Order: sequence, then C-alpha cells, then structure tokens
Amino acid sequence: MAGRGGFSSKFGFIAAAAGSAVGLGNIWQFPFKVSQGGGAAFVLMYVLFIFILCFPIMIAEIAIGRKTQKNPVGAFVDMGFKKWSIIGILGIICGVLILSFYNVVAGWAFGYFLEISQGNFGIGKEFSAFTADTTTVGIYSTMFMLATAFIVSQGVSSGIEKASKILMPTLLFLLIGLVIYSLTLDGAMRGVEYYLIPDFSKITFKVAYTALGQGFFSLSLGMGALITYGSYVGKNDNMVSSAVMIMIADMTISLLSGLMMFALIASQGLDLNSKGGAGLIFTVLPGVFQNFGSVLGIIVGAAFFLLLSFAALTSTVSLLEVPVAYLVDEYKINRKLAVWGMALLIFLVGIPSLYANGGSDFFTNFITYPGADASSSFMDFVGHVANDTFLPLGGLLISIFTAYVWKKHNFSAEIAQGNPTFVGSWQEKIIHFTISYVCPSILGTIFILTVLDRFFGVKLI
Ligand code: PHE
Repeated sequence: MAGRGGFSSKFGFIAAAAGSAVGLGNIWQFPFKVSQGGGAAFVLMYVLFIFILCFPIMIAEIAIGRKTQKNPVGAFVDMGFKKWSIIGILGIICGVLILSFYNVVAGWAFGYFLEISQGNFGIGKEFSAFTADTTTVGIYSTMFMLATAFIVSQGVSSGIEKASKILMPTLLFLLIGLVIYSLTLDGAMRGVEYYLIPDFSKITFKVAYTALGQGFFSLSLGMGALITYGSYVGKNDNMVSSAVMIMIADMTISLLSGLMMFALIASQGLDLNSKGGAGLIFTVLPGVFQNFGSVLGIIVGAAFFLLLSFAALTSTVSLLEVPVAYLVDEYKINRKLAVWGMALLIFLVGIPSLYANGGSDFFTNFITYPGADASSSFMDFVGHVANDTFLPLGGLLISIFTAYVWKKHNFSAEIAQGNPTFVGSWQEKIIHFTISYVCPSILGTIFILTVLDRFFGVKLI
C-alpha cells in the first residue's frame, strides 16, 4: 500500500471506521428522529434494518475497498466494471452534501462547548437565537472545517487513527455515566417506556424509511466512506468480525444516547413526541448540566460537548477523505491541494444550511413538499435527499453490484482472506442470501416508495 498509507493494525481500522460511524448521527440526530418517529417503534425498525440490511452492505463496501485498494470511483473501474463507478460518483456527491450541513451542526456543538465552559447554561433556552446568529456559528463552522482539513491533509494513519483511539472510549464512558444519572431522576421511567416499549400503531411508512436512512447515515454506509476506509485495510484482517464490532459500537452509542435523552426529557416533564427536531439535545442538556452545580456542571457539560465535537470530527474526516481519495487516486492531484480545495468547496455548499436555522427566512422555510403540513428548512431538505434517499440508493446499487456483477464467489474469496473458514460457513450463507435477495428487494421497494412519499406526496402505503 506504499504511497497511499494504511491503517497500522486491525484495531486501527476498527477505531477509525467506528470513529466515522459514531458522530452527530448517534448523539444529535438519533434522539430527535426517535421523538419524531413515535419512540420505540422507530427504535425497533432502526435495529432491525441495521441487522438485516445495513450489515451485509457494510461488509460488501469494506470488501470492495480492500480488494481494489482504491477510492469509491476507482474501485469499480479497477474491477473492470466502469459503468458501476456511478456508485462512487453518487457517493462523492452525497458525501459533499452531508458534510456541508454536518459541519454546521458540528459548529453548534463546538459553540456549546465554548459557552458551557464559560458557565453559560442559559444557552439551552437560547438555541434558536444561537443558530440564527450566522456570524458566530459561521466562525465555529469555519474552525471545524479547518480542523477537519488539517487532519485529512496529514494522511490516513497518522491523523485519523490516533484521534479515534483515545477519544471514542472516553465518550462512551461519559455517556454511560450520564445514562446512569438520568435513570435515577424522578419521572425518568415515562421516557424509558416511550423509548423501549413499541406502540405498533406508530409504525408508518415514513417511520420505516427515516429509520432506514438513519441506519445508513449512522453507519456511514451507502456513499463509499467504507469503501475508502476498506481500501486501507490489511489483507490479513477478518472483515466480518471488524464489521460486527463497528456495528455494535455504533448502535450502542445511539441506543445509550437515546436512553439518556428520553429519561431526561421525561424527568423534565417535557413532551416526548418533540416536533422541535434538530434542537433537541441542545435545548435539553444545558439545563441538566446546570443541575450538577456550577463547577461539576461546567466540567461535565463542557466535556460532553467537547467529546461530541471530537466524535463529529472523526466523522467529518471520513466524509472529506472520500472526495480527497478520489482526486488523489484518479487525477494524481497533490493531497494537500485536494484537501484544501474540497474543504473550501464543501464549506461554500454549506452556506445555505448555515442560514437555514433562523438566519434567513428563505432557507429556514425552504420548501413545502406536496401534501406536507409544514415547510422544511434547506438543511432538512439536504438531509432528506442525502440521508433518506441517496444513501439507501447507494446501498441498493452496492448489493446488486456485489451479488450479480462482481458475483458472490468473488465476494466470498475476498472475505476469506483473513477469515479462512468463511467459505461454506453459515455466515457466508446468511450474507449471500441477504445481499442477493433481501437487500435488493427491500431497498429497491423502499427507495421508490420513499421518493414518491417524501417528494411527491404520493402515499402508496
Ligand atoms: N456516521 C456519521 C454519524 O453518525 C455520519 C457519516 C455519514 C459519516 C456518512 C460518513 C459518511 O455522525
């Protein structure tokens, strides 16, 4: 792998891929999607989709990356299927879109770290004013993009790997501590029930496809991030066990953060079915930290938002790495130039999202879909296109490609390197079955129905 860099060990890959997976998607987005999706019904769909649909695609992505040691466009060309590199092109576009708004939310998280470090717990109540202040958020987001670009410019193993190894476990411990604390609060059980006991009447098609989009987003799937990271994996590593660990780590953080949030929301007597959306953790948490008293509150609160910012950083790094790897591999562009050029481009694409939370009325109430009862902001719109539509589409195409174009036996042969007992095992049977039948049929159906439902207001189910 000379010249491209590589992860120094199997653990390095797992840490970096888990670093990509764990981020704002788990701690910021998951709880508010659960509250919009009616609680445990959403959680149930999310977990089911991860096991049935996301997991096989995750293995396929890593395998394609490791086989070719290329970026998501070059990988398909390298295997001799140039037409299928459309998957990579779509993935790169999707990565640019996701990073453009993700970076804004990361700016909020970083801003909250700074505010709470100074003892400003009132920031929770001022969330709307905070996000509408586009100058301040713009500065934080710029700093965030600079940090991301700096890490990516340092190359894969030195930058991405080191940061992930220390910070991810710390975040997990802090989260566990907060979960335990929140469960002891009066009234918390109402939230726990809402979160864990499904009300099946809440399962609508919209709940299903947002849970699917959330699964893809949270695992960084469907856009080539794992093809790119897979391209840096050693030939002797067992991909199946790595994928299991990444999936479990990611799901654990999401589920814990949801548990914490719903216990807290209930203990504060607030409405569990929040329509408020994106502000959920930012409005609820500062008041909780305040209850810890000023010194402990500042320490725990600042640590929380700082670690959240780091978790976001290991994700933004992977998002930026995708287009950069493409430019470096395919056009032999100097890595630093590719990094800074892309970072600038993505920042510019993100400006409407920066203005989409009160900064400008046009971007805040950007679009009203046919049949929808409220408008969506530009940021929400990008999320609907990228997370809920493009990522599952990417997954669909990857499953079809792997099963019918690359072919199952070649897929198995790649997995078998580093996992010699794989061929002929029950693991292989399950993965083959899901990748050839389950993923294409379910993802294909959901994709078509999602586009009709979300963007055209046509509700077939
Ligand atoms: N998985 C990341 C998160 O949950 C976001 C992400 C999506 C990163 C797609 C890379 C690719 O925060």
